[in-house]
Amino acid sequence: MKLASRMGLIGTETAFEAAARARALEATGRDVIHLELGEPDFDTPAHISDAASRALLDDKMTHYTAATGIAPLKAALVADVKRWKGIDTTPEQVVVTPGAKPIMFYAMLALINEGEEVIYPNPGFPIYESMARYVGGTPVAAPLREANDFRMDVAEVESLVTDKTRMIVTNSPHNPTGSILTDEDVREIARIATERDLVVLADEIYGRLQYEGEPLSIATLPGMAERTITLDGFSKTFAMTGWRLGYGIVPEWLAPSFSRLVINSVSCTNAFTQVGAIAALTGPQDAAQAMRTEFIARRSLIVEGLNAIPGVTCVMPHGAFYAFPNFSSFGRTSNQIADHLLYDAGVCGLSGTAFGQYGEGHLRFSYANSREKLSAALERIADSLAKLERTGQLVSA
Ligand SMILES: Cc1ncc(COP(=O)(O)O)c(C=O)c1O
Repeated sequence: MKLASRMGLIGTETAFEAAARARALEATGRDVIHLELGEPDFDTPAHISDAASRALLDDKMTHYTAATGIAPLKAALVADVKRWKGIDTTPEQVVVTPGAKPIMFYAMLALINEGEEVIYPNPGFPIYESMARYVGGTPVAAPLREANDFRMDVAEVESLVTDKTRMIVTNSPHNPTGSILTDEDVREIARIATERDLVVLADEIYGRLQYEGEPLSIATLPGMAERTITLDGFSKTFAMTGWRLGYGIVPEWLAPSFSRLVINSVSCTNAFTQVGAIAALTGPQDAAQAMRTEFIARRSLIVEGLNAIPGVTCVMPHGAFYAFPNFSSFGRTSNQIADHLLYDAGVCGLSGTAFGQYGEGHLRFSYANSREKLSAALERIADSLAKLERTGQLVSA
């Protein structure tokens, strides 16, 4: 039996594979500290779970809903994006999906023809590149460099635009580096998109986890609403990764195509979880705020701890919950260091190259784990690297 040839084009998200390797190691009796997955370690706030469970048990919301979401959730999202992002939109432009990832999928499917180019951040969330290639497009890497605080270099982005460019993907705050775009960067990207008639896929999933300054949503800039897909969701802000709840705010002309793609793929998003989403948006925000405050404390702990390890440097991330330290002084590949730290130290992080070739030299550690675990991980990393320096012996599977 043969796979369709396009399956040779699709990539993956190695966090899930690294987590599986870490669990296999744990099954042999080893203790592993998990810093690989990008998910808050907190429970979903109780009022959100209560609302969903009432919708399931009392209101029997176990049927299909409208393809792009129930009306009260769309109304709540219209108000929420106005409040947090300053975006003026309508319920018709809101597309609710099982997680935010499908918005990337639909954006590429709906907009990218064979051979058309998508400029995306590299290192970056691996699905941008994977999906651009899968639909027959050409992903064009915009390198994010440590020397530029891992921001997109907008002059370089402009130089990458060709007659075939159709889309620019932005992600601020950024996975895996925690970088943020400045207002000036965002304005420049808007100028380029407008002048060259491009669509922007603005991945704002970490928008509420920006620790300095206020994020600027590109869709609010003149002329951008009709060419921006704003992607966001509930996974990160409200610790709801397993709920699978996300959304896109799309231009009016694109909304019917997204609706059709939803109908062709998933029909709609789970009914009772959408009620939980309303509670998340309209209920008390103290739990989300407390998580954010805790992430800020953990950020200091891990960044200071990493910088205290000889040979390791780590720039201060400005948002999300990832540190992206530089291990290049050890003269090994990021994959080797990631393996060594897993199998020698029992600390699971991700190789920077899991996010593209420009991630070489780095590892990504998610600091969505307790301060105790982070401190223990830092100690183990320091010991293991000191041993590596002493013996020259890399440990692997
Ligand atoms: C940058 C970025 N965008 C989007 C997503 C997708 O989130 P979800 O599908 O859980 O809503 C993630 C998840 O890790 C992410 O890191």
